[in-house]
Amino acid sequence: MLSEKMEKILNEQLAKEGYSSDIYLAMASWAEVNGFAGIAKWLYAQSEEERVHMLKFLAYINDRGGHAIVPASEQPPKNYETIQKLFEKVLEHEKYISAAINEIVGKCIELKDYTTHTWIQWFVNEQIEEEAQVKNILDKLALSHDMYIFDRDIMGMRSEDE
Ligand SMILES: [Fe+2]
Ligand SMILES: [Fe+2]
Repeated sequence: MLSEKMEKILNEQLAKEGYSSDIYLAMASWAEVNGFAGIAKWLYAQSEEERVHMLKFLAYINDRGGHAIVPASEQPPKNYETIQKLFEKVLEHEKYISAAINEIVGKCIELKDYTTHTWIQWFVNEQIEEEAQVKNILDKLALSHDMYIFDRDIMGMRSEDE
């Protein structure tokens, strides 16, 4: 059984994962209308993954006797100026999510909720991967002189990691 405090923080994280899905969807749409099909594909897949994360929180909260709350959605930004700025924002967002997951780990210890502590480790590892992946994209981007080739490159990346 989840404590009320843990249920609350997990529901907050559920909302953050939902917003992650929305912001990547907005980015995907922007990339698509600006002609970056590969980047759009990467972002659409990323958005789907974040929805899966949200559903993992939903299932866990309900399985442990809590009530998962579907959050109101906040409109993400529509425009992203450049691809560089877009991916910088992705990295910044993932760092924010990593910090939020870290807070939950701290809460688990504080509340002696070792079940949630074990469960949340999947997200701890996932965040290491997510940040590394986005850093890798930013490195590639810094070396790219041709956005067409970069876009083709990133299109291939998505099928490799799945
Ligand atoms: Fe996530
Ligand atoms: Fe993520």
